[in-house]
Amino acid sequence: MSLPGIDPGFQFEAVAPERLPTNTTANRHAIHRWFNFIAGFAPEFVAEHCPESADGILLDPFAGCGTSLVVAQASGNRAIGFEPHPFFVRIARAKTAPPPTEVRLRVIEEVLLNGAAAALPQSPISGPAQTFLAKLFDEPTLTQLLAARVALEEAGLAEDDLAFLLLSRVVEMCSRSQTDGIYKAPTSRKKAAPPLDAIRDVIDEIRSDVELLDNRCSVPEVLLYQRSSEDMSVVETGSIDVVVTSPPYLNNFDFAEMTRMQLYFWGLCGSWREITHKVRAHLIVNTTTALTGHRDIQSKYRDEIPAPILSDLDRIVKALARERRQRPGKKEYDLLVYPYFAQMTRVLRETLRCLKPGGTAHVVVADAAFYGIHVSTPQYLASIMTALGYDSVTCTKLRDRGHRWILEKREGSPIGLGEYHICGKRGSGI
Ligand SMILES: C[S@@+](CC[C@H](N)C(=O)[O-])C[C@H]1O[C@@H](n2cnc3c(N)ncnc32)[C@H](O)[C@@H]1O
Repeated sequence: MSLPGIDPGFQFEAVAPERLPTNTTANRHAIHRWFNFIAGFAPEFVAEHCPESADGILLDPFAGCGTSLVVAQASGNRAIGFEPHPFFVRIARAKTAPPPTEVRLRVIEEVLLNGAAAALPQSPISGPAQTFLAKLFDEPTLTQLLAARVALEEAGLAEDDLAFLLLSRVVEMCSRSQTDGIYKAPTSRKKAAPPLDAIRDVIDEIRSDVELLDNRCSVPEVLLYQRSSEDMSVVETGSIDVVVTSPPYLNNFDFAEMTRMQLYFWGLCGSWREITHKVRAHLIVNTTTALTGHRDIQSKYRDEIPAPILSDLDRIVKALARERRQRPGKKEYDLLVYPYFAQMTRVLRETLRCLKPGGTAHVVVADAAFYGIHVSTPQYLASIMTALGYDSVTCTKLRDRGHRWILEKREGSPIGLGEYHICGKRGSGI
């Protein structure tokens, strides 16, 4: 059996370099298409760098929706991931768990369809969550979706990651707002699918992928830790063959805000404040919304950054602080720089420790610009890697990004932004 446009056997073909840092090919591939997001990279990028001998171990310190882990597993390798975000971690777990049986799929399908068709005696959400979701869905749709959620809980499926993934996809399909990518205000509109149709469509997609993959008799183990990769002490030193990852980019997505609809829908958070404390506080500081708790410890972060890039960062921080003082209401961009590079230093140090001698780290990351001030994140991360002791560090541009927006609007950077591939090895002498 073959599906139009779907590659059943994970036979990845080469794609143009500019697509490698994007999720634009993910929907061609079984499992990846169950749930992926705009901050994901292409499965092809991972496939290019996966260990050649099956039974290797791939590490992704920023696992997101699990692209690297799924590719590693499909090629017979084991994988380890870190992801502190309570929504993404469940999505990645659902995609890397052993394939569901037809019986389990039928049970989930029935519970969701019957649940969505039943009455909802009492809404499980209230307050800011209710107010926010009411903007993204029409009332009957939201009631049906919440009734499906309650039905899962009543059927004892609250902890079932596949059921969680499935209903999360349905929620996204049934929203009348554009909700993927940079958070769009509830005023942006898209076509909303009816819940019962969406449930059937998503189940059918999963069912056909599972049938296609039935010949995968044993699925290698994936360990996914719900915590920050700044501390990966659970991973044995020198045990990892390859690292394939993409961290949060500086001044790009706020991964907590991006998932606000899902966090509220699932009752994982009930207000903006809870989103900050339960989710954002555990993520790398990359946007000004994440500064709570980080403003007063700037010099502590600065102390952690390797010397070779400090004078550049000091210059950038000073320029941004001057900009903020001169223009009332400007954002605290100057306070992002030290926390971001200090936290990335921690992750890259841990990554080097985990790699086997001769093992390689592949990192996809973009540069940033704040009000005309350019920050060459890829080059700084490459310098940090060299300073930490990685060998043969290279940094290659994969594509231009946000060129028009950055250059023409909002007093953008004089330099166009891009996405880059940094590569560094653990030498045999460490
Ligand atoms: C660019 S996305 C990675 C997407 C992934 N490559 C994929 O294809 O789905 C970065 C991810 O890093 C996660 N993240 C942020 N801070 C983290 C931290 N301290 N430790 C581990 N992951 C973190 C975010 O939640 C987000 O899912």
